[in-house]
Amino acid sequence: MRIGSIQISSSPVLALAPMAGYTDAAFRTLIAARGADLVFTELSSAAALSRAAGGQPSSPRATDAIIQVGTGGITGIQIFGNNAIEVASAVGRLRSLVESGKCAARLIDLNFGCPAPKLTRNGAGSALLADEKKVGAIVQAAVKAAGQIPVSAKIRLGYKAKNNIEIAKALESAGISAITVHGRTAMQKFSGKSDWKSIGEVVEAVDVPVFGNGDVNSPADVGRIMDVSGCAGVMAGRAVLANPMFFLQAREHLRTGSFTPTSWEDKLKFMHEYLSLQARFGLPFHVAKELAMQLAGGFRGSAKMRAELMMAKSGEELTAVMEKREEGSRAP
Ligand SMILES: Cc1cc2nc3c(=O)[nH]c(=O)nc-3n(C[C@H](O)[C@H](O)[C@H](O)COP(=O)(O)O)c2cc1C
Repeated sequence: MRIGSIQISSSPVLALAPMAGYTDAAFRTLIAARGADLVFTELSSAAALSRAAGGQPSSPRATDAIIQVGTGGITGIQIFGNNAIEVASAVGRLRSLVESGKCAARLIDLNFGCPAPKLTRNGAGSALLADEKKVGAIVQAAVKAAGQIPVSAKIRLGYKAKNNIEIAKALESAGISAITVHGRTAMQKFSGKSDWKSIGEVVEAVDVPVFGNGDVNSPADVGRIMDVSGCAGVMAGRAVLANPMFFLQAREHLRTGSFTPTSWEDKLKFMHEYLSLQARFGLPFHVAKELAMQLAGGFRGSAKMRAELMMAKSGEELTAVMEKREEGSRAP
């Protein structure tokens, strides 16, 4: 698959979804090492980035955390904004960080899918899906500001009503290099099912690579969403939080029709590696706790374990709780 100037040889191309509060540099590094070709940062504000571009103060979170790229995989930085000037300015800032070697991101992703009122009441995120012209203008400005860095977009099927084809065509005409489609409208938030057939309508409508997203819940779903939609790439989010082996299993399933289940030891190893990278990157502890809670799901005794994890105040305490899990009861 080619995403602008980036050539990716694996087929299918598998992407870790941007997930605010989870997909920090440590998590992205570990998931890239476990089979993801592409990993995305959580969404960041173009306004904050462009303030930094103008030399005005902006929170460290607005720049430092964003540009902190892990190792392995191809990292896309996701930004949101509600107007072309601000988005172009943020993209310009990212471009100069990339070109000066301060940031190892290879791709810039524009968020047109977030349904959170914090964004939509300011006309950003999924609210933009209702205005194809504005989406086109923002993308055109971003692509121009990005130079050689490819720009991708993440969309839903529409805001209230479905206009997936019109939006996808507007994105393509404006120079987008890839499109991820979460098969729900913004109004649906996370209710109902991701409509993979409607993702297929986007695949039919444009020539750029399309990533199918939404409810790819098991490794076997990767093949299913490709069959239903014809998408060339697959993005998964929530399933990966609970199962760090997800992408490796998806590839194994595509090859052999089955996959090696995740063991509790796999999860423990993941947590140990996460904590060590988190310390190296200087990331906040609370994310480790959130991740441990995600890992500790779906078995007898998981509620008790989660209650104990909630009380943990350090990485050592987290892993001590996880390690207590009894031998013999160790299905994930
Ligand atoms: C906790 C959480 C945070 C998310 N944050 C973002 C985000 O920052 N940017 C974005 O485009 N989507 C975000 N999403 C949406 C996911 O990227 C993805 O589109 C959605 O979860 C559907 O895919 P899934 O069914 O594989 O989880 C978030 C989802 C979750 C659950």
